[in-house]
Amino acid sequence: MKTPPSTAASHDEVFAPSAEFVKKIQLQNPEAIYQRSIEDPEAFWEAEAEKLEWFQKWDRVLDQSDRPFFKWFVGGKMNIVQNAVDRHQHTAVKNKIAYLWENEKGETRQYTYAQLFDSVNRWATLLKEKGARKGEVITIYMPLTPELPIAMLACAKIGAIHSVVYGGFSTEALATRMQDAKSKILITGDGGWRRGKTVDLKDIADGAMEKCPDLKTCLTLRHTQQKVKMKPGRDFWIDELLANLRNDLECATEPTSSEDPLFILYTSGTTGKPKGLVHTHGGYAVYTSLTHRTVFDLRDDDKYWCTADPGWITGHSYNVYGPLINGATIFLYEGAPNFPEPDRWWQLVEKYKISLFYTSPTAIRGLMRFGDAWPQKHDLTSLRILGSVGEPINPEAWKWYYNVIGQRKCPIMDTWWQTETGGFMITPLPSTPLKPGSATKPFFGQKIAVVDEHGTETAPEQEGMLVLKNPSPGFARTIWGDPDRYRETYWKTFAKQGWYQTGDSARIDRDGYAWIIGRMDDVIKVSGYRLGTAEIESALVSHPQVSEAAAIGLPHELKGQAIHAFVVLRHGVNSSPELTGELMEKLREHVAHELGPIAKPEQVQVLDVLPKTRSGKIMRRVLKARALGQDPGDVSTLEE
Ligand code: WT7
Repeated sequence: MKTPPSTAASHDEVFAPSAEFVKKIQLQNPEAIYQRSIEDPEAFWEAEAEKLEWFQKWDRVLDQSDRPFFKWFVGGKMNIVQNAVDRHQHTAVKNKIAYLWENEKGETRQYTYAQLFDSVNRWATLLKEKGARKGEVITIYMPLTPELPIAMLACAKIGAIHSVVYGGFSTEALATRMQDAKSKILITGDGGWRRGKTVDLKDIADGAMEKCPDLKTCLTLRHTQQKVKMKPGRDFWIDELLANLRNDLECATEPTSSEDPLFILYTSGTTGKPKGLVHTHGGYAVYTSLTHRTVFDLRDDDKYWCTADPGWITGHSYNVYGPLINGATIFLYEGAPNFPEPDRWWQLVEKYKISLFYTSPTAIRGLMRFGDAWPQKHDLTSLRILGSVGEPINPEAWKWYYNVIGQRKCPIMDTWWQTETGGFMITPLPSTPLKPGSATKPFFGQKIAVVDEHGTETAPEQEGMLVLKNPSPGFARTIWGDPDRYRETYWKTFAKQGWYQTGDSARIDRDGYAWIIGRMDDVIKVSGYRLGTAEIESALVSHPQVSEAAAIGLPHELKGQAIHAFVVLRHGVNSSPELTGELMEKLREHVAHELGPIAKPEQVQVLDVLPKTRSGKIMRRVLKARALGQDPGDVSTLEE
């Protein structure tokens, strides 16, 4: 299967799929399709949109008059739920399984598309009964159960906007997101399972609701059966409410406009509070379904498993909307990859005969550490295509994934994208010759470049800023309540050229393959999760003994990056070494408590002062260089 190295590339190893494999791929001649897609993007996207069901057709494919606030399929009416659930009721997909679910305790559930339709109807009716209206934001903070997608779909069905907050986040993170969206309704659960313990979602939600005056109603899923507090008049059990609904209810799907918001998803930025990126019904439906079925060469009998929590964009696009629109069978798993044993995932691949498997480099590195014997205990021959997302995959992990998990017959789709882009932007297709560590080439309709600060393309192999040149239907339209921030953050650097600034640095090699290096801003990627230095720092200074804080990301073997924090203590805080050690431990716990376990710093260190510019900005790169024993570069703006 391995072909000789390409002569031009400096990254010399190429893994090309066999001719036999390529012959079976449904989408033939992708190069020609790509050419067409960039020569006439509007015609290309129009043809794709026609494959979906619309209540009313659009007047215009793309409206660029208010750049960078692009509008797609203007004048069209479509609800993504009509495409993801309703329309399947009239085809053979109706009796196909939509969701297979299992958790670490071995509990299982499944939903056919018909059952999914029924549940979404009932949940949507319940939401309406509780006063939910089109256009309002409903926050969802739930365990990884099939009810999480059901809750999302129920919101979308009635034209409400969902804002899912990942169940691994904690009080403060949940509260800020609910406040920003002014949510009146929260959908949560009693708890979730993780490594034999419960995550106390309702307790955390209680704390967050205290800080949210707009919040009036909390709907709770019974899942772990743990004891929780229920506040009369505010908190309700979903099963009890559902039991009181009539059985034959059918809630009409709201005929939303293409550009009506479907969801907000908060993500970390460089400064300030997290940004609520707004995605819409029409373009997002077109983009997620097309990327999903072409990149995974989706077939009717596929069993697809994306290990991401639906609470992240990967889950939204590729555990809910994309695959449901495509009528896929989706497996969801609630639990850690290595609990109770390091072969838990491989055992599930075997049991459910998973054919498409999509996960993150951090998970692969973590499992690789336990050795080959664990996966080798299982029959993994059902696998056909593998995927990776979240951060660059190091060639060593790539090869282990390829050789040991995919047994040299499954290409790896290293998909580069962001919460902002809604779907894959740079990705191989199953026929693409692969280079371990490269996300390869832009998807249909996309044009990319690596440029210097003036917008001049760098020479092949030279590092620069990654920009996206074309508007794309799946893109976030704005930041919730803050369009100026959207323009400033993404579109200002290259306003003249009209390009989107990704925030990533990258290289393009002589074969035109893209190699992502990492974030250039103060976003830290811990195990593929995106965290902003600002959030971590504000959690630290919320502690009574801390006056100032700085957080940086340093390389970590398993997590990719780990958080290192520096604090300046308040006057009068005893800083003897023993006490400081204890306090540092407390501060790590404090951050985990405020934001969630994923944000827990690896290390907290005390400094007398933080390096700052004369204008008072913390110079994180100086801290980083010092920690890595490197030259901090230009420090002429340093205060002292
Ligand atoms: C950032 C976006 C997109 C879903 C999950 C992350 C990094 C993402 C890759 C990849 C190298 C990657 C980038 C990007 N990233 N995928 N295949 N190779 N880097 O979404 O949390 O919005 O983070 O993740 O740095 O900018 P996100």
